[in-house]
Amino acid sequence: MLILAIETSCDETGIAILEHKKNNFRILSNVVSSQVKLHAKWGGVVPGLAKREHQRNLVPVLNRALKEAKLLNPKLETRNPKQTQNTKYKILNTILEREPELLKKTTAFLKKYKKPRIDLIAVVNGPGLEPALWMGVNFAKALSTAWDKPLVPINHLEGHLYSIFLEKNREFSISNFQFPAIALLVSGGHTQIVLVKDWLKYKILGQTRDDAAGEAFDKVAKMLGLGYPGGPAIAKLASQWKLQATSHKLQARLPRPMINSKDYDFSFSGLKTAVLYKVKDLKPMSYKLKTGLCAEFQQATIDVLTSKTIRAAKEYKAKTIILAGGVSANRELRHQMEKAVQENIPDSTFYIPNSSFTGDNAAMMALAAHFRWQNKKEPANLRALKANGNLKLS
Ligand code: KG4
Ligand code: ZN
Repeated sequence: MLILAIETSCDETGIAILEHKKNNFRILSNVVSSQVKLHAKWGGVVPGLAKREHQRNLVPVLNRALKEAKLLNPKLETRNPKQTQNTKYKILNTILEREPELLKKTTAFLKKYKKPRIDLIAVVNGPGLEPALWMGVNFAKALSTAWDKPLVPINHLEGHLYSIFLEKNREFSISNFQFPAIALLVSGGHTQIVLVKDWLKYKILGQTRDDAAGEAFDKVAKMLGLGYPGGPAIAKLASQWKLQATSHKLQARLPRPMINSKDYDFSFSGLKTAVLYKVKDLKPMSYKLKTGLCAEFQQATIDVLTSKTIRAAKEYKAKTIILAGGVSANRELRHQMEKAVQENIPDSTFYIPNSSFTGDNAAMMALAAHFRWQNKKEPANLRALKANGNLKLS
């Protein structure tokens, strides 16, 4: 079985092709075209720009993904295309009527290349930036119609959850996974603790009431003039502080919001504001002080995330603990969460995605689609399928 997956929920245009044979998976291609540099100028993701870039990039990214997977084959010249083909191109006009650039590129691509030997198309239809999501959804509808292939919608967070199985050498299998699992999903848009009762069976135990953890990293980085995206920049400065801070004590202790609340919710906006006050108090800030503030902010975030995850894992007697989402790229978070799991729940297994799959990519979406399709071979109704910026994990 070959699955082609499309991801356009934020500022990465991703298309991947995943092969599944018995219990073996192989990522045949995983192309990610990042718009980060473009959005960096504005200090964050601009939805209209993201939409425009997806519209530009989807066909070139598809071309690369099929080529890498050795599935791109030119058509032989036909003077008179079949009637059915012409009707299909007309349907595309309706599906992509609001995206003229994408329509033009897609039609040219479909005329030039043969239908690839894939079995299923998957597309992320939420959560995320709605204008950006729509690009992927409409493109997937167009391909599904033109190639006569079933389409399944995928929840972006479900994709992150399955990213834990992807291997850097692109080949993997899944065995001995034990339920229940507790998953901490941390990205630029979400921070959730999810109880995974079984494959595809979720219960959200808690989530952020305001900013997501990644968003807080991005906003704090902006305050400190570190640019976008903020996560990697803060992590870098924090590690420098750690190296030099043996004798130097930072006088900037930050709060750990909601760390003692009885629920599994989070709040990061107060932490962000506390950093803002420190920035004002400590002005002008030396580079050394900046590294210290980054380290303290990162540690405050990690303390809250690990403490609540461990508490949930204990309460629900989790056999597996998962950390995933863009923020799971943070090395301190990975390290401290692993240590906390080993110390508190030594019999459990801890999963984190390989560093090459922490950010948004379509390979993890293809794997999620595999599970969805195995469970229920029910293709989406193309007319009814919509992008939903607030889609819940269910
Ligand atoms: O999952 P993701 O790639 O996109 C969304 O679905 O939002 O997550 C992006 C978020 C950004 O906020 C980024 O700053 C954060 O992940 N991030 C990090 C690190 N690398 C990326 N946060 C902390 N430390 C990092 N090393
Ligand atoms: Zn993401």
